[in-house]
Amino acid sequence: MSEQDRISLLRQELHAHNHAYYVLNAPTISDREFDALMVELAELEARHPELADPNSPTQRVGSDLSNDFPTFEHRRPMLSLANTYNRQDVADFFNRVREGLGGEDFEICCELKFDGLSISLHYEHGRLVRAVTRGDGVRGDDVTPNVRTIRSIPLQLEPGSWPDEFEIRGEVLMPWTSFERLNREREQREEPLFANPRNAASGTLKSKTTAVVAERRLDAYLYYLLTDDPAPDAAHYELLQQARQWGFKVSTDMRKCSTLDEVMAYIDHWDEARRSLPVATDGIVLKVNSLRQQRALGLTAKSPRWAIAYKFQAEQQSTVLREVTFQVGRTGVVTPVANMDAVQLSGTVVRRATLHNADFMRQLDLHQGDHVLVEKGGEIIPKIVGVDEAFAGLPRGPRIEFAKVCPECGTPLVQADGEAAIYCPNDLRCPPQIKGRIEHFVSRRAMGIDSLGPETIDDFFRAGLIHDVADLYDITPDQINGRDGTRQKSAQRAIAGIAASRDVPFERVLFALGIRFVGETAARTLARHFGDIDTLAAASLDDLLRVDGIGLATAQSLHSWFADADNAMLIERLRSHGLQMSISGEAEAARSTRLEGKTVVISGVFERHSRDEYKRLIELHGGVNAGSISRKTSFVLAGANMGPAKLEKAQKLGVPLISESDFLAMTGEA
Ligand code: IVH
Repeated sequence: MSEQDRISLLRQELHAHNHAYYVLNAPTISDREFDALMVELAELEARHPELADPNSPTQRVGSDLSNDFPTFEHRRPMLSLANTYNRQDVADFFNRVREGLGGEDFEICCELKFDGLSISLHYEHGRLVRAVTRGDGVRGDDVTPNVRTIRSIPLQLEPGSWPDEFEIRGEVLMPWTSFERLNREREQREEPLFANPRNAASGTLKSKTTAVVAERRLDAYLYYLLTDDPAPDAAHYELLQQARQWGFKVSTDMRKCSTLDEVMAYIDHWDEARRSLPVATDGIVLKVNSLRQQRALGLTAKSPRWAIAYKFQAEQQSTVLREVTFQVGRTGVVTPVANMDAVQLSGTVVRRATLHNADFMRQLDLHQGDHVLVEKGGEIIPKIVGVDEAFAGLPRGPRIEFAKVCPECGTPLVQADGEAAIYCPNDLRCPPQIKGRIEHFVSRRAMGIDSLGPETIDDFFRAGLIHDVADLYDITPDQINGRDGTRQKSAQRAIAGIAASRDVPFERVLFALGIRFVGETAARTLARHFGDIDTLAAASLDDLLRVDGIGLATAQSLHSWFADADNAMLIERLRSHGLQMSISGEAEAARSTRLEGKTVVISGVFERHSRDEYKRLIELHGGVNAGSISRKTSFVLAGANMGPAKLEKAQKLGVPLISESDFLAMTGEA
């Protein structure tokens, strides 16, 4: 078989495996085998740049944007749907449709209303050519490079009777698991959290770095196939079943109903069952199934007459506020929590609800005994949304003030300039802060001590065994033996896990320390740059600021962390326990001076490594990364699709272009 044939075979196979994994949830090969095929394809493609294809499975993560997204005018406007919150409106809709169709039989397709952002996908000859956001309904942003990273969106359709050119619309969303993981990571990096998966998905789709989008694990359900000249009996539900055959992810929870009772039963069912779905939904969409009947009913200025969205009511109840308590998180931030008379909400008994922060609490002007409104929406934690005005005018109890001192350790609370959060500054002695730091230290991406969960940490803490992360390494089996039997096994497993963590590489140790603003990426950069903890600790603010990717806030945070004598002691103790305090011999050995004195600009799309990896390689070999081409540029590391402006500039200044494979050979990484 020629290499050309092998390339197209591999592309086909990988598309099929992707589909099986991300759309059908039924993997056909192991991850390892999949990766091996990907590597083989990438290698072949690198040898055959003439066969480059933006829809190749290797190209899901590709060119990043340097400017804003181009806009694109929708061929047909992207309409929204009329919304309703009550069942009477649903009944009215059903009756309007019946009248509008002059008493003809009709079917209503009931489907979930996915809570993400709408997207329009354009296919030509079975290949994805464009993805556009809704925008204002008339023009949207062309976000194709980002959408290509979504694994459940086919870049190449399965063989089938798809039209040569067509558009299909649907919803891009972030599944709950991805959303929760993302927020956990952001919390660790002390970045603002996303309020819900919709905001997270929309923020992600607007990212200018495709690698970021790829990592966030978005998903997409398609729910509207646009047709130019449909068959006389064409119908929405049936078209979507076809689209599923072509490789699209189409919900399997759609139902055709012929009576209002069936529609109501569908709504009743999903109002409850949606809680166990992997993605957020905020209602039900009802659509007249037959396209002919859809046309007969027509559109209003804003929305079709043949469809309606029934939105689930975030369930709300009124109850009595007894007191507000204050909860201290890992970073010391204090959250007010309302304690109320028990109330039934979405099938659970609720006694506590969040009041978010001091500002929110102040706005509500809460008094003891007030009747408050509690809501449980898409979020898991119930929240207070307001004071129940039905009870206004009654005599009220004393006003509730925000705590002045930490409820856990008694330290006076402080508010940082310009921040909403109020926090406890006693980070070294305040129990939840200590436990939080230890939980972060052992977490998977840090020291990866899986055997040590929050309960065991709490157990050890209560027993007086641990006050800081270094204490973990002092725990002996004797200290655990003799204590009540129940947790012995897990404690012993924990000790083994703690011991094994001594081999965790320096960059993760650095991340595990939980220094404010030092996330995984910064930790990696710092570890590579300074090589060991002593050099890092001795670095001046200027030294830190000179590191590519380290900003002022991070530099200041590091500088003051290392200036603290308690932290210096902690490092010494961790070192004496054998933790890695410098990059390993292996990583050190990889270092070279091959690019010493060279300033390199990276441009274009690469096959073998990501841009970030190339940046790291340049630094590893003593070179310097630069953003734009100038006379000082030693060479451009040029991938495919290098921008014409850069190309011209390089040619004008006589800066050589080095291909990916030459670069790898040059640095001995090939
Ligand atoms: S149909 C003309 N179906 O809800 C019909 N929309 O205002 C176009 N949505 O903008 C939309 N799930 O983003 C349709 N199963 C579903 C949907 C759905 C979510 C979103 C969509 C649209 C908004 C309605």
